[in-house]
Formats: sequence, C-alpha cells, structure tokens
Amino acid sequence: MAKTPDPSRSRPATLDVLRKQAASCRRCDLWARGTQTVFGSGAPHARVVLVGEQPGDVEDQKGEPFVGPAGRLLREALGEAGLDLADVYLTNAVKHFKWVPRGKRRIHQKPNRDEIVACRPWLDGELAAIKPSIVVALGATAAGALLGPQVRVTRDRGQFQATSFAPFVTVTVHPSSILRSRTDEERRDARDRFVQDLRAVAERLRKIPHRSTSRRG
Ligand code: URA
Repeated sequence: MAKTPDPSRSRPATLDVLRKQAASCRRCDLWARGTQTVFGSGAPHARVVLVGEQPGDVEDQKGEPFVGPAGRLLREALGEAGLDLADVYLTNAVKHFKWVPRGKRRIHQKPNRDEIVACRPWLDGELAAIKPSIVVALGATAAGALLGPQVRVTRDRGQFQATSFAPFVTVTVHPSSILRSRTDEERRDARDRFVQDLRAVAERLRKIPHRSTSRRG
C-alpha cells in the first residue's frame, strides 16, 4: 500500500516524492485494471493547474496525462488562448484509467464518488506542492471534486472563486465533450467557447504578480 500525503506536514511533499508514492497506490480498486498510475505532469511551480477527470486509453499506456485526442485539443486551445505550457501543470482528479472491455476496445467509464475521494490526497498533494495561482477544472468530475456537488459547469464556467488551495479557481468544459459534438458547427462553437474560457484564465494570470521564490517552499 502506498504512503499517502499527510496534509498536516508543515512542508508539503515534493511532486517527485508524490509521484513515486502514487505509483503503488491501492486506495481504490482501479489500479488492478489500469496499466499504471498516471500522475500529473508539467512545471513543478506552474502558475496554472488544469485538472481533468481521469487518464484515457492513450494516457494509461503512455503514463502521461492529456497525450491522447482530448489532450491534443487541450494543448492547441492553451496555445490559442496565450497560455504557455511552461506555466502549466496538467493532472486528473482520478489517476487510473477506469474502463470496461467491449470487444477489443477499452471503453471509458466515469469514476464514482468513492474513487474520486480515494484519489483526492494525490490531487491535494500536487496542489500543495505547486501552490498555483489559478486552478482550472475541466468538466463536471473535476469541478465536483474541487468545488463540491453544487457546481454546474454550464452555469459557472468562466467565473473565478477563491479557495483554500488556490486564490482563483474556475471551471470549463472537458475537451472530450468538444470531440463528442454532433456536428462540425457545434464542435467549432464549443471549441471557440473553450478557448474563450482559457483566454480569461490567461488574462487573469497576467494581472497576478509573479511569486517570489520564498513562497514556493
Ligand atoms: N481526459 C482526461 O480527463 N484526462 C486525461 O489525461 C485524458 C483525457
């Protein structure tokens, strides 16, 4: 059983330590079906952390978040919004791929509440280590995990709120939902709105002074 982060520690565990611990996580049963734990990746002192739901099929095999089709869309959108990947850390609310077999395919399944709660110490550990200025929840699972069940992505997207883990937290859609659009027109519109939400993040970031290294712990 992996050691999990202890929030009462005065000095948060580093991302490297957390990543090693999470690799043998058995806090829920998803480890048994996943190829590996897919921990977050990006700048260790990123100013923006983006949180998705869980790794997909490609991510499960490669061991990196957002490297499949949804990740490609996300990375393009970040660039269009003026967010530099050097300022960004990408992670997920749940760090194992949850799937069921259908023929030769592995079909994504939504993580349940217990799985999200079991995985929470890793996300808390990442946020404590990074101390980002802005956290962006991508889709309903991440939004609920970070802000509670009352949050509604369609109603609350683009708004910022202060939390204990970051001074600015916002929600937007998950890039996979854009890929599932029924028509080209719908996809274009959904993508435009997504870039618009990320632009608001980039604008907000420009107004936040850069941290001094002493806050980084
Ligand atoms: N979807 C997610 O939520 N996260 C990933 O890493 C990939 C797809």
